[in-house]
Amino acid sequence: MPGAGAVHHIKAGHPVLFSSRHPDELKHLVAGLGFLAQAGTVSQAIGFGNVLLIAVPYHALPQVGQDYVDSLRNKIVLDACNAVAARDGPDIADEAEQNGIGITSQKYLPGTRLVRAFNTLNYKCRLENSEQAYWPLVQTACRI
Ligand SMILES: NC(=O)c1ccc[n+]([C@@H]2O[C@H](COP(=O)([O-])OP(=O)(O)OC[C@H]3O[C@@H](n4cnc5c(N)ncnc54)[C@H](OP(=O)(O)O)[C@@H]3O)[C@@H](O)[C@H]2O)c1
Repeated sequence: MPGAGAVHHIKAGHPVLFSSRHPDELKHLVAGLGFLAQAGTVSQAIGFGNVLLIAVPYHALPQVGQDYVDSLRNKIVLDACNAVAARDGPDIADEAEQNGIGITSQKYLPGTRLVRAFNTLNYKCRLENSEQAYWPLVQTACRI
């Protein structure tokens, strides 16, 4: 999912580091995107940029926030994650529903400058509608 949006950052001349728990598996993705694209670990991604886009199944958010609490502090985090009971379990989906998903994400990613972004856009939309749809959203999110 993040790959779809990151392509537009690269086209606009920005370096992007795609991260994974298995960065070797991203080699094929970055190979076709030119010298501004690279792959790395999650720690490398957090250290790399001023702005992070996080898109993981919502049930993974508490663990990510716990594992990287220190390095995530004060980072601008664009949170594209949605809580879906069928995938993420009823507890966290209910929490997000009752308290609001932004508040819930902020709880699990403490100390971040969290912005909800891109969560309503299917990845195909980002690929197909490109800059017109994507860039205004990035710029708005980064000014908040
Ligand atoms: N797909 C869309 O069009 C779309 C649109 C709007 C919002 N969203 C939201 O964006 C998020 C990701 O969606 P997706 O379709 O990209 O899902 P996905 O492909 O299932 O997951 C994205 C990545 O999350 C990482 N991940 C999975 N389980 C993890 C765990 N337990 N701990 C840490 N990382 C884990 C995996 O990366 P590695 O295994 O490489 O580390 C995986 O490649 C979801 O919350 C979804 O609701 C998706």
